[in-house]
Amino acid sequence: MALLEIEILGAKVLRERAVPVETVTDETRRLIRDMFDTMYDAEGIGLAAPQVGISERVMVVDVTDEDGKHQVHALINPEIVEAASETDKATEGCLSIPGLEEDVTRPVRVVVEGLSPSAEPVRIEAGGLLARALQHEVDHLDGILFIDRLSPLKRGMLMRKWRKKRKGAAR
Ligand code: NI
Repeated sequence: MALLEIEILGAKVLRERAVPVETVTDETRRLIRDMFDTMYDAEGIGLAAPQVGISERVMVVDVTDEDGKHQVHALINPEIVEAASETDKATEGCLSIPGLEEDVTRPVRVVVEGLSPSAEPVRIEAGGLLARALQHEVDHLDGILFIDRLSPLKRGMLMRKWRKKRKGAAR
């Protein structure tokens, strides 16, 4: 088991557009294993490679949906190919912005295509928490954080809270 260091808001890598993986290799699969270890250790439900300092389009999620169905996915080069026009709002947090949570509005259903760790094409039709988690992680690959999805007012409030927290932590 290898734990990777999680990058925190302010790190440049979180704001970069991650590059596609050209060839899925053992190294990619090792990264995915380490990302799962890191995500479980941090008690998160999703993690994207930029969050561990690697600007590549790789993400993992592990969510339990409303029906109690356990959904575990590792995706390489994921793309949202369809999104419902219907949206809903639910609380999100992020391992890169620890301690902050806010309601985020997103499409209720998405279809995501990508590659599995064995480089097989995957298509996931997701609703509920899985849809939300997939969108949150794909956002990370484009340098987008959940705070960017908030109104300027909400974001401002959250950022003031964040600065206060960080100042407290630095002492
Ligand atoms: Ni996140």
